[in-house]
Amino acid sequence: MKPMFFLLTALILTGGIQAQELNKVTIDAVHKDVVINRNIYGHFAEHLGRCIYDGIWVGKDSNIPHINGYRKDIVEALREMKIPVLRWPGGCFADTYHWKDGIGPKSERPKMMNYHWGGVVEDNSFGTHEFLDLCELLECEPYISANVGSGTVKEMTDWIEYMNSDQDVPMANLRKQNGREKPWNVKYLGIGNESWGCGGAMTPDYYVNLLRNYSEMAGIYGRWKLFQIGCGANGADYNWTDVLMKQRPGSMSGLSLHYYTIAGPSWGDKSPATGFEKKYYFSGIEKAMRMNELVEKHSAIMDKYDQNKRVGLMVDEWGIWTDVEPGTEPGFLFQQNSIRDALIASLTLDIFNNHADRVKMANIAQTINVLQAVVLTEGDQMILTPTYHVFKMYSVHQDAFLLQSRLICEDYEMDGRKIPALSCSASEDKDGSITLTVSNFNPDKEITLPVELVGATFDKILSATVLTAPAYNSYNSFNQPETVKPTILKSVKKTGNSTLQVVLPPRSVVAITVNK
Ligand code: AHR
Repeated sequence: MKPMFFLLTALILTGGIQAQELNKVTIDAVHKDVVINRNIYGHFAEHLGRCIYDGIWVGKDSNIPHINGYRKDIVEALREMKIPVLRWPGGCFADTYHWKDGIGPKSERPKMMNYHWGGVVEDNSFGTHEFLDLCELLECEPYISANVGSGTVKEMTDWIEYMNSDQDVPMANLRKQNGREKPWNVKYLGIGNESWGCGGAMTPDYYVNLLRNYSEMAGIYGRWKLFQIGCGANGADYNWTDVLMKQRPGSMSGLSLHYYTIAGPSWGDKSPATGFEKKYYFSGIEKAMRMNELVEKHSAIMDKYDQNKRVGLMVDEWGIWTDVEPGTEPGFLFQQNSIRDALIASLTLDIFNNHADRVKMANIAQTINVLQAVVLTEGDQMILTPTYHVFKMYSVHQDAFLLQSRLICEDYEMDGRKIPALSCSASEDKDGSITLTVSNFNPDKEITLPVELVGATFDKILSATVLTAPAYNSYNSFNQPETVKPTILKSVKKTGNSTLQVVLPPRSVVAITVNK
């Protein structure tokens, strides 16, 4: 449905939005044309710092409780969060990675230098088998990023055959020799990462020709079953998207986009992850809001060449990128995670939900111990970050029908700059339960929000959860792991057959589910 039409319908059905109502959300419960792809809730794990080693993989001889070498606590947390898809092995690392170094007996696997991240020696003990078996354990889809920057077409097609063939062919036989009889049937294949930067510093015209070559051959070896993802733009590089969409190979099903929130008040200036002043809180949210404009502008270009929306926009790297924790290796990108970062996550997920007609996957960077991680580890300890709780609260939106919501709200102002104080998205699951997620970015003020369903009534509030924190920069530490955690939201009440009212605490994310 066109937003304008919905706006008129809403005005008629509600008898006109009263001018004095500063904050209100109206949800269209009639039109259910778009499904929120569960892969919007995806993650990314690169051979970077302590994401794979220490974070996910401790090895079979570790004293830390594990399942065949994977940390047990991590496996449980990720399953609980309903991780739908995991991207690997990079990132910049992917374009230096040669997959054959990571198969076979571990003692025989050659070592390599991790040039991008801390200059450490990678022993390849976590490779294709370890990754794909992990995805099976997590019950999530693997998303493989193939090496275009320093690899070859042959290397990539061999990899596809190794992972996906069940015939009597050399790579499938090698896989069987390495202990895995059945193919993994990988679906998602990225062709190059940041090919405009660390993946080869290519121009869009050069890259799109390479992509056509890789894509055609991947199609042949993948028997056209692969969902191929072309390397997309860096932030607002709209020309990249234009060239790629215009000259794309027919077998490209998705085009990526990378955007990181660099939260300092001035351009390019990072924020500390903890102990930051309020101006960093404000500018973090303000800069994360830019994702809306990026998604809309890249989508408009995609619409020009693909009116039927066959190609998905895959935001396969996003999140806040802060200073590293003091005393840690700068190349390991280890940062803490505060309620501000949780609000950046909820805001961004609302944006993806509300553009689910085009956004088909997104992968926050990066799962464990790197950038905006959902889990942090230290020895045998692990903590769930505020961002983890948002992903868990939002998991009800996975594969649900998007419901259009129209939000009017006050601004949150700081030092003469303004941002909308609220964001939201809504969906209906297959059982007919409707969930509204709303965030209040104002760190100092509670906001009362009337909610109206248009075209449906509801019986009762099934659940209401809130994530907030003692201060705008609170976080979970290893000493105090539960400073920021979800609780039951009490300040919500049914006010009519199709209306409710919620009081949003300052700096909070809420999820409310009602039954129809
Ligand atoms: O996520 C960290 C890095 O950010 C990735 O390796 C790269 O793709 C991006 O620049």
